[in-house]
Amino acid sequence: MCGIVGYLGQSEAKSILFEGLRRLEYRGYDSAGLCMISPDRELGCIHSVGNLDSLERALEGVDLPGMVGVGHTRWATHGAPTMENAHPHLDCNGDIAIVHNGIIENFLQLRAELAENGHTFSSQTDSETLAHLLEEHYRGDLAQAMRDGLKRVEGSFAVVAVHCEEPGVIVAARRGSPMALGLGDGEYFIASGVPAFLAKTRRVVYLEDDEVLSVNGDSYRITDLDGREVSHEVSVVEWDIDAAEKGGYPDFMLKEIYEQPRAVADTLGDKFDSSGRISAEELALDPATAKGLRRIVVVACGTSFHAGLLSKYLFERWAELPCEIEIASEFRSRNLVVTPDDLVVAISQSGETADTLAGVREARRRGASVVAVVNVVGSQMTRESSGAIYTHAGPEIGVAATKTFTSQMAAMYLLALYIGRLRGVLSDERYMKNVEELRAMPAKMEEVLADSGPVAACAEKYHGAEDFLFLGRGFGYPVAMEGALKLKEISYIHAEGQPAGEMKHGPIALLDDGVPVVAVASLDSVYEKMISNIEEVKARGAPVMAIATRGDDEITGICDDVLFVPETLEVLYPMLTVIHLQLLAYHIAKLRGCNVDQPRNLAKTVTVE
Ligand code: AGP
Repeated sequence: MCGIVGYLGQSEAKSILFEGLRRLEYRGYDSAGLCMISPDRELGCIHSVGNLDSLERALEGVDLPGMVGVGHTRWATHGAPTMENAHPHLDCNGDIAIVHNGIIENFLQLRAELAENGHTFSSQTDSETLAHLLEEHYRGDLAQAMRDGLKRVEGSFAVVAVHCEEPGVIVAARRGSPMALGLGDGEYFIASGVPAFLAKTRRVVYLEDDEVLSVNGDSYRITDLDGREVSHEVSVVEWDIDAAEKGGYPDFMLKEIYEQPRAVADTLGDKFDSSGRISAEELALDPATAKGLRRIVVVACGTSFHAGLLSKYLFERWAELPCEIEIASEFRSRNLVVTPDDLVVAISQSGETADTLAGVREARRRGASVVAVVNVVGSQMTRESSGAIYTHAGPEIGVAATKTFTSQMAAMYLLALYIGRLRGVLSDERYMKNVEELRAMPAKMEEVLADSGPVAACAEKYHGAEDFLFLGRGFGYPVAMEGALKLKEISYIHAEGQPAGEMKHGPIALLDDGVPVVAVASLDSVYEKMISNIEEVKARGAPVMAIATRGDDEITGICDDVLFVPETLEVLYPMLTVIHLQLLAYHIAKLRGCNVDQPRNLAKTVTVE
């Protein structure tokens, strides 16, 4: 998720673009840049690495005249945060500048074709491909070049472009990433988010997918990719700046819960080759190495640990490999028996967690290969691991992990399927069945998110409780653990997750009518045992809220409350059931007056041991 801005008007663009980026800094901040068309029709660009303070320092005393230009603040997805990878990107001749937010899934194929046609690239990013694509299709009309070039693109984009030969024109397009046009008084603002220009105008036109906007002097035009005119209502934004940065949501956490389908789709998006098979060359895992693996050791903390707990079931099922899941702070404090035949997987959304980093270092010191599953390109963990798999959840501002968790799940599903295939123990049929359903998950996640009424009602009913017990079996167990963590970290209610089968070995003593029990009970291979556990809970008078499969009437007659998810494969229910638990925690915390984005005592990234 990056912040992009464009401006065309009667004022100097530099300060307007920079202020716009400031308002979008929550969308990404590892590098930045601006580019304007000067009065003598030349592109004047400046780039910086780091957050916008670095760009501000770089701009001091620099003369960048021009009343049309583009700007970008980056959240790296392809290519580390470096000057070369910072946007705006230029074409070969330096006539076209583009800024991009999204993921070009077929950028390697496009890059190869363009290189064949003589284009030379200066970055490792997928975004630079768009600059050369426009150059390839440019015949004197930038808007037409955009329409023609984007027909070749697979993936998501919000792109803004200028051409120095058309100083009175700015062109933009979107698919899957937000893009808004702000209508000023004789000036136009384009941005990935309304906050960028809300101080200038509240009149906004929102582009839809596969639409191209061209602003020319004092008018604008929107078409589809075939050039057919499209018209949209002009909206008037009622939000204040703070709400606008949250996309109209009251909190970043809620916004990020609702961003999960996009985050998962983006995480899956660039992990398949043109034949639809999972590709992970960056892991440098060949079939022989994969077959020679003795076990997998997963190291993580907190929510990332719960993603690892899920992956244990996946590696055992699909890769037929023993998998040990380790709390990082404990992993590093033992006399580790880790060898070169082990594959260590470190899961960390920040890539900076001290305990997990220490585990990575110890594992590498003992000769194991380490794969980092991270959300931040260029983070310390990626630099210290043998290979990295990136989630593309974008910046997660809320301290409580939500979209990074389901994105981590997606990455672990892919890794387990990939290794199972490499080891030759996963049949084509099983592989494709799981890949197809995995790729259908964003749509099913949308279904769960579409009806949050029941979970809000449950929150209303139980928000006064002081203790919760979360129960799950099999694939439901990691979800129960995550649900307990979400509730305790943002509402400060004591909550614990337990394997449902473990309840009778002690935790059942906790139960009475004041202790709500949340049971993850989707229709899977352990469903009947979950029903038995629910009966045991009910016999102790505790109220039970079940997370169940839509159409399951049996459970409705047993539990006090039921929250449903669409049917899917047993292994994939966690991506759906966890959403209800995230929303339950969120609504309970709000009802208790807690600050869900910045819970007490917590930090987003724990860089201390
Ligand atoms: C989860 O909501 C918490 N924010 C915390 O447990 C977090 O998952 C943990 O600190 C690990 O962070 P990481 O993924 O950045 O390594």
